[in-house]
Formats: sequence, C-alpha cells, structure tokens
Amino acid sequence: MKRGFRLLGAVAIMALTATAAHADELDPKGEWSAYDKGNAALPPMGWNSWNAFALEIDEAKVIGSAETIVTSGLAAKGYRYIDLDEGWWARRGGDGRLVIRTDRFPSAIRSDGTTSFRPLTDKLHAMGLKAGIYSEIGRNSCGQIYSEEKASLPSGTVAEREVGLYDHVDQDIGLYFAEWGFDLIKVDGCGIRGLPESNPRVAAGEFRAFAPLIDSDSLGRTDIPAVRALFGKVADALERYNPDNDFVFSLCIWGSADVRSWAKNVGNLSRTSEDIFPIWGRMLFNMDSTSRRALYAQPGSWNDPDMLYIGNGDFDADHLTEARTHFSMWAMLNAPLIIGYDLRKAAPELMAILGNEGIIALDQDPAGNQAVLAYDSDDVQIYAKTLADGTKGVAILNRTSAPLDAVLTAEHLKFLAGADVELTDLWTGNTTRFKGEQKFTLAPRETLVFKAKGKRMLADGYYLSEMPGSVNPAVDGVTVPQAEPMTHRAILPWQSTHGNGEHPRYGGWGGAQADATPYGEELAVSGRRFASGIGVLANSRLEIRNAGYRHFSAEVGVDDSARDRSEPVTFSVYGDGKLLARSDPMRFGEAPAKIEADVAGVKLVEIVARSATPMRFPDPVTWGNAALTR
Ligand code: GAL
Repeated sequence: MKRGFRLLGAVAIMALTATAAHADELDPKGEWSAYDKGNAALPPMGWNSWNAFALEIDEAKVIGSAETIVTSGLAAKGYRYIDLDEGWWARRGGDGRLVIRTDRFPSAIRSDGTTSFRPLTDKLHAMGLKAGIYSEIGRNSCGQIYSEEKASLPSGTVAEREVGLYDHVDQDIGLYFAEWGFDLIKVDGCGIRGLPESNPRVAAGEFRAFAPLIDSDSLGRTDIPAVRALFGKVADALERYNPDNDFVFSLCIWGSADVRSWAKNVGNLSRTSEDIFPIWGRMLFNMDSTSRRALYAQPGSWNDPDMLYIGNGDFDADHLTEARTHFSMWAMLNAPLIIGYDLRKAAPELMAILGNEGIIALDQDPAGNQAVLAYDSDDVQIYAKTLADGTKGVAILNRTSAPLDAVLTAEHLKFLAGADVELTDLWTGNTTRFKGEQKFTLAPRETLVFKAKGKRMLADGYYLSEMPGSVNPAVDGVTVPQAEPMTHRAILPWQSTHGNGEHPRYGGWGGAQADATPYGEELAVSGRRFASGIGVLANSRLEIRNAGYRHFSAEVGVDDSARDRSEPVTFSVYGDGKLLARSDPMRFGEAPAKIEADVAGVKLVEIVARSATPMRFPDPVTWGNAALTR
C-alpha cells in the first residue's frame, strides 16, 4: 500500500517536472539564441591541407598554396583562411605543451628548445591571410586511430601521444590562439568514437581506452549531451582566449551525435556528414546531408558539407561540369568554401571555377539564407535562395548521368507568374527572360545557376521560408533524435560494401523545414495546401529576427501528416517576449486559422506551437504562408 502510494507520488512528480520543462523551454525568451560569437557572419573561405596532402603536410606546401591564393587573386575574392589539418603534431611535452614536427615546419624551432607556430602565422598574417589549426576533442586523433602511416603521426610514450584536447582544453586553446595567433580551429572527434577496449591498438597498449561517446551508426548508442558538453567547453575557452572575437570554431563530428540539431548553439561551422571524396555520389551524399537543413544555418553558424574537392577525381580539369556543380551547390548552401587542392599545380580552368565572383557572391550574400528546395526529386532538384537585395539565386541540378529536361516556374522562385522573370546565367553571363515557366535541357550532372529578378509574390515582405537565415528553431519539438533517410546513400569508401549497406545515420529527421513538413511532405492543414510556410513539430519555439517589418501573419493548424492526433495545439506569437496573438486550441482535421500580429518596433518575434499536455512524439504543425510584411 505504502509502496503503491510512493510510486504514485513519484509518477506525479515526474509528470509535473515534464510539464514544467515543457512550459519553460517554450516560454518566450526575447533573445536570439543561436551562436553568434566568433568571426563567421559569412561562411568562411580559404584552403585546407587535408584533401590535397592528407597527413603529408609541410611548411613549403602550406606557404606555396597561400602564395598562390594571393598571387592568383583568390585572396582578394575572399579566400583568406589557410588551415593546417592533421599531420603537424610531434607529441605532447612533459609540461603538457604541444610540440610541432620541426622536420616539416622548420620555422617552428625556437632557441629555448620549445616549438612555436608564431613565425608561420605571422607570415600568413603579413600576407593578409588568416591561419587555422587542427585539433581533436578526445585524447587521440583520427590518424592515430585509423592510419597506418606511423611516420606522420605523433611519437613517444602513450601520454606523449595524447595530443587531443581532452583534459587540455584550456592549455591548448591558450597555446593555439593567445600564443601562436591562430584564427580558426577545426576540432575532430575520432578520439571519442574509435578507442573502445576492444580496439586492437588499445589492446596492444598503444593508446588508452576511451569508452566511446559517439557511435556513428547509432544515435541510441551515442551520449549526445556528453558530446555537446565537450564541445561547449572548447567554445568557452575560445571566448576566453579571443577577447577580440576573431576566431572561427569548426566542429568536425561528421553529422553524428545529432550535431546537425545543436551545433548552431555551440560553434560557427559544423560538418553534417562523413568525409567527402572526389566521387560524384559522395559529393551528392555530402550535399544532401546539408540541403534540408536550411533553418539550422544562420549568420554565425553554418552547415558544413565538408571541403571542396575541386581539382581531383570526378571534379578535376577533365570534369568541369561536375566541378562547376560542386562549387555552385556549395555556394547555394552557404557552405564554407574551403579549397582542398594543391593550388601550386591548378589548371586555369579550375582557378576560374574557384574564382567565379557571381557564384562566390551567392555564398557570401549578407542575408545568410541557405537555399531552400523549391523542387525535389532523386533526378532533378531546384534550389532557391533569397538574396539580401530581394533577388534570388536559383540552381537547377541534374543529379543523374543522363541529359534531361527541367521546367523552372515563377512559383519556384515565389515570383508572380504574370510578370517577367529575368535570369542571368552565373557561368556564362547570358541574360534571358521568361513569363510563367521556362524549360531547360541539362547535360549529365550539370547545374544551371542563375541570379533571378522578378516580382515577388509578397511585394512588401517575405515568407519566413524565404528568410531561413533569420529564423532559428530554438526548440524544434524533436523529443528523440531520429536519423534522416533523405541523403544519397553513397558507398563509404573506406568500408566499401562490407556489412549490409548504408543506413540513415544523421539525426535531424523531424526537424523544422522550410516549405515542407518535418518529415518532408507537402504542407497541408485539413486539405488546404501551402506552397509556402514552416513545417515544425508541436511543442516548438522559433525565433525570428525582425528587420523592421510591421506585420506578422500565418494560417496555422495541425498538419494533415499528423499521426498521434490526440492533442489540440495552440499557436502563439510573441514580440520581444510579450504575447501578441494566440490561436484557439486547434485539433487535427480543423481548417487552418488565421493568426496576425502587429510587430512594429519588435526586434525578435517568437512563434510557439504548444500542445495541451506534453507529447512523447509531437505531431507536425504548419505555419502556412507565415510571413513578415511592411
Ligand atoms: C577526419 C575529418 C577530415 C580530416 C581527417 C584528418 O575525421 O573528417 O576532414 O580532418 O579526419 O585525419
């Protein structure tokens, strides 16, 4: 009897706690919560040693590429970061101070017997460039765990070979930024996924075991909060050691640990997938890992589908169509444009691709709106991106290896069908016009990229789905992270076809979407379809930066794709923390309700969809035609 009572008490307390947490995170905060520290208002551009040289880096290669960046004019076009990847560590010294491989970086030798990258960073800075360093969140690096090239890896005792940040965050970040003067850090994660007791190198006494926090094959077997906390510590140290705020924090855990959902709160760049390879299918795979995540990228925090592979394999000088597609799509998706090629030997055609100013401008547009899928299929995709001046970037991508036709409509661009649309081809410079729609024939693997001018459907404002760079899904309603099934499932090169295939592996399924439901369906409430809108789960809160608009409006309801359907959902609009408008509780099957609010003078609009009681798996809801207007 007594036991039963206690149990009931515990259940009641748990329920109360759940309700309190539910209320708390959905309460308006009145401030933008996505990461805006560091120097990444625009996606960083530059060069990284990995795709060109892997572990075989040295000073001549790095400086040689930096010099080419300057003399070729690429630096003047925005390529500024020169980033060392793995291959520079000699070991960790007795006092914990990291030691540089001076056989490869002779300028690092100092008379007191220590080593320093200051001469290298000084040289890069004197060239008008910025310098990036590579580290690891665990104790040991990817190369140490996976590579056979022992000569390029740290040497010494087990402790001396622990060159990662684990237990050394403060010391290493201080060294890299305050002492050595780096401006960017890429932090990898192999040390927290690859060193279980069972690893043969651990068993052989080469490395200490590290009970894995990440299992790349399983979100359920990954300790997401622990991984996030480790990267959070690095972010804190970066702030401490960079009082001038001139740093970039690049997370590299390849889309694992649901990082696609939380990196926007922790750092400036975050890899959304495993490594790119110079293989067409692999490029699609990396691209897809980013392409449905437009709402999870904002100025200050960008999705990173990995470095460019232009110059190699399927993207070399004999495959300029593919190289142009790769470059165009990275720019449409606001990816960091980080060259991964030995620029000392680059053919002029490749330099011309990397230097295309029209395409670079798409990537570097100050509005920071990652392109949204306007048309999606496995064969052709059309991406549209709203630029700061109200014009659009549009890319029509032929994913297949056969020629095919595609039709671009004014609606894809959210332009009026009755008015002229002017297209400027950013590869040829040709300008054409159409009304309503225009057919194109695409060569195999070709992407046509245009800057488009027309009459916007909303002449005096924007749909929220046109301005993802100003919308932050602070709480997206996902209660249990699920892997996204929509990425092209390319063979993982180092695994080949061992095992039983490529499974969805990157959390994010069910996250907020522009112009689609959280599960990739058409937005619809009680049979009413919306070509524009935000699809998100119930029990969500989105923050919207308001650049001087006066009016918020939307048509809201539980989406027709809902499955639970038991809970009514209330939709609220807040301005700088104050309630401005609220819908009645809306049930599945009910016609959409109009919700409007006067947001004149408001800096931050928050829109909240809340179920009557917390739901284990919240239903999709639709903010149809959600827009800010003058
Ligand atoms: C991988 C990372 C690559 C490269 C490599 C170095 O984990 O994704 O971009 O940095 O490690 O070993």
